[in-house]
Parts: sequence; C-alpha cells; structure tokens
Amino acid sequence: MKTRQGDKWSAWLLSRRFGGDPKRLQAMLETLRPVRERVLDNARLNGRDVLLDVGCGDGFIAFGALERLPTCRAVLSDISPDLLDQARQVAEALGFLNRCRFVRAEAETLAPIADESVDVVTTRSVLIYVADKQAAFNAFYRVLKPGGRFSLFEPINRFGHPEPDNRFWGYDVSPVADLARKLKALYRRLQPPDSDPMLNFDAWDLVEFAERAGFDDIHLEVETSTKPKAPQQWATFVRSAGNPKIPTLEEAMKEVLTPAEREAFTAHLRPLVETGQGRTKMAVAYVWGQKDKGADGHV
Ligand SMILES: C[S@@+](CC[C@H](N)C(=O)[O-])C[C@H]1O[C@@H](n2cnc3c(N)ncnc32)[C@H](O)[C@@H]1O
Repeated sequence: MKTRQGDKWSAWLLSRRFGGDPKRLQAMLETLRPVRERVLDNARLNGRDVLLDVGCGDGFIAFGALERLPTCRAVLSDISPDLLDQARQVAEALGFLNRCRFVRAEAETLAPIADESVDVVTTRSVLIYVADKQAAFNAFYRVLKPGGRFSLFEPINRFGHPEPDNRFWGYDVSPVADLARKLKALYRRLQPPDSDPMLNFDAWDLVEFAERAGFDDIHLEVETSTKPKAPQQWATFVRSAGNPKIPTLEEAMKEVLTPAEREAFTAHLRPLVETGQGRTKMAVAYVWGQKDKGADGHV
C-alpha cells in the first residue's frame, strides 16, 4: 500500500494510528514516553554506547537515547524506507545527524549490520509484526558485542483476545452484535488469530526466544491494564487503525456494512466512544538481557 504518507508503515505511524488528530498524537506520546524511559533504563545505557534501534519508526526510542547521553551514538534500522527518511529529517532537526546511521534492515536478519558491532539493541512494538521472532532474537545476539544488552517492549495481544460477541474494541455492542460480527469477520480475515504474528506469542515466549538465542540474565516484567476508556472524539476514533495492516473503522464499515447498517452501528457506538463508556483490556511485556562476555568475561 503506497499512500500520500508513504508506505503502509509510515502512513500508519505518521497518521493512521492517531486518526490524523494532533491532539490524539500528543496524548499517545505522553503515554509512550514512560515506556521509552523504561526500555532505555533496562538497557543500562553508557555514555559511549552504540545503540541499534530495530524497527526505529520515526526514531522515538533512538532519539530518546541520544537526548539522554550526549556521547552515545545510534544505528536506526527499519524495513520502511519512508520511515528511515522521516527519522533522518527528525535527526537533522534535533541536531543528531552526526551521531546517527540509518540502515534498511529486516529485524529477522539485520543483514547489513556487522557481527558484534553494537553495545545495545532496543526495539519497541516491532516483534508483533515479525513472524519468525526467534530469528530476530538470533540476529540481536549476533550483532551485539560480548557483554552487550538488549531491551524491548511489546504488547501482548493474546490477552483479551478474542473479545466476546457482544463487545467490540472494549465497547458493549449487544444491540448491534450482528453488525459487529460482520466487522470482526473482516478484521479476522486480515489477521487470522492462529497465524498472525501479533497473536502468536505471549510474554514467556519472548523469554524463551531470548534464552534460545544465547542471552543470559533475562528479565521479564508484564503489566496488565483493565480500566475504563477515556472519552474520544468520534471523528478521530473512526479514522484510526489499530495497526498498519488493518483498515480504520470508517473504512471497514464502508467495506462490509450497508449505509443503513453503518448508521445503526454508528448511532449505537458513537455515544459510548464520546463518553468513555468502554473498557481497556491490555497487557504489555518488558524484556531485557545480556550477551555473555565470553570465556574471559565477568558478566
Ligand atoms: C509500531 S511501529 C514502532 C516504531 C518505533 N519502534 C517506536 O517505538 O515508535 C513498528 C515499526 O516496525 C517496523 N517494522 C515492521 N516489521 C519489521 C521488520 N520485519 N523488520 C524491521 N522493522 C519492521 C515498521 O516499519 C515500524 O517502523
């Protein structure tokens, strides 16, 4: 998918995840900043470290590291050329360009990155898109110097999935459950729950992958959040997509509902969204660990 905002990854990160609403983006970034700080804390960054941020997007994690430590350098890697361009522009605006390298690389191989060339690997919300997660952990291990660390954050989407028939994205849709079923069928077709990389793992699997790749001293922290949703603008809500691979609710409604059905679904859901009468149910995992220093090392 090529759009005005570039490939599907950049279209999503730079617009569709927040429905093109700058206020919603600000609210999202407020929530994500503490996540970034935890990922960087867990990485135990040092002043002269070279950090590789895998699936860097527009540089959210990597630039956080460069802000923290003025002598640290970063390799930003991603599969999306459009996001690498965007990250380069942000680096320039922040005055970080001379401390950054931008590399197009798949997390599964990190092929252009040399063995034992970086001190820290970070990644946030990237492995959910990677089918072969073990391969990605093996690649993290390969590119890390002896004694290097990895630190990651991933949503655990199996928690709370699938929703019961009378719920849609955390809202009670009992009176329009037949319409919700049509919408859910579309989303399920695009992301089959038994094979989609977003749903084929849990937090313990991440620890297993890390251990099998060779990492030591592996830590896992899981957090769940089950709470009322905040009220949201309807226009923002219907124009947002939960991830880069799926349509917004507006697009999905157009695809599978008749105009009368769209009206009925909207008439029910809109007031619930606008008054925050829904529940969030999510889980996230922080995982971090270390590569042994080798025979003479002191890890
Ligand atoms: C949810 S965004 C996260 C971006 C960034 N890590 C952040 O914290 O804002 C997911 C990113 O993963 C990248 N990505 C998806 N699949 C990938 C893969 N197989 N290898 C490398 N990057 C990938 C996308 O291009 C996108 O930039």
